[in-house]
Amino acid sequence: MTVQDITTIGIIGAGNIGSQLARLGVAHGYRVVISNSRGPETLTDLVAEIGDGVTAATAEDAAAAGDVVVVTIPLKNIDRVPVAPLRGKVVIDTNNYYPQRDGRIVPLDDATETTAGLLQAHLPDSKVVKAYNHIMAADLTTKGSPSGTPGRRALAVYGNDAEARATVAAMMDEFGFEPVDGGAVSESWRSERDQPGYVKAYDADELREALGQATRDING
Ligand SMILES: NC(=O)c1ccc[n+]([C@@H]2O[C@H](COP(=O)([O-])OP(=O)(O)OC[C@H]3O[C@@H](n4cnc5c(N)ncnc54)[C@H](OP(=O)(O)O)[C@@H]3O)[C@@H](O)[C@H]2O)c1
Repeated sequence: MTVQDITTIGIIGAGNIGSQLARLGVAHGYRVVISNSRGPETLTDLVAEIGDGVTAATAEDAAAAGDVVVVTIPLKNIDRVPVAPLRGKVVIDTNNYYPQRDGRIVPLDDATETTAGLLQAHLPDSKVVKAYNHIMAADLTTKGSPSGTPGRRALAVYGNDAEARATVAAMMDEFGFEPVDGGAVSESWRSERDQPGYVKAYDADELREALGQATRDING
């Protein structure tokens, strides 16, 4: 699947990041189906604000509706993400590990797993792509710029499926950010919380340098 095949973005999580990606999606001509944990009736204000192009649904229905589906929820809740409707799909993972919110997660503390790896393990038949986790939510709609802009803000993209990575990268480019291919899910720790590139406004060269400077024992 290429970005041209995408008409609908499903979003699981309607908080800071989910609502911002919904705004970007609608602004770039996609249909967006967005969900939270409490039900679509709690999203009427957001839907009214964003306007045509977005609808609210349950997480199951957002997962089923999306050609691509974003999971953007507290990491502690990823085991509740519906599995069946996401089979075979590209799933964008924005999630970060905050122990004070998520509790201690041993394989992350041990640096034997990544946050994206946890979602990939929960969704073994989906193509998980890590993206948008190292940018502050507000910056998503204010710091983008067209391709070719000098110093354009860059964001990393990781995933085990190269085509899925390329699809997410192409959409990211449309959304105003320079994608940097970070390789497999197992490499995505390089963009996790407190690493050198985390929420820094770097262009592609600066981001690549920061990813190279990342060290693995950060959650220890
Ligand atoms: N905030 C940032 O700037 C930022 C930047 C990069 C990455 N991140 C990461 O991205 C993720 C989302 O962050 P956020 O700031 O957008 O979070 P948030 O504002 O706290 O919003 C979380 C959303 O997830 C929903 N949710 C929780 N459990 C769910 C479930 N089981 N099924 C469906 N929806 C569920 C919540 O719905 P209810 O309200 O109905 O419970 C809420 O809409 C987090 O992992 C965060 O660490 C955040």
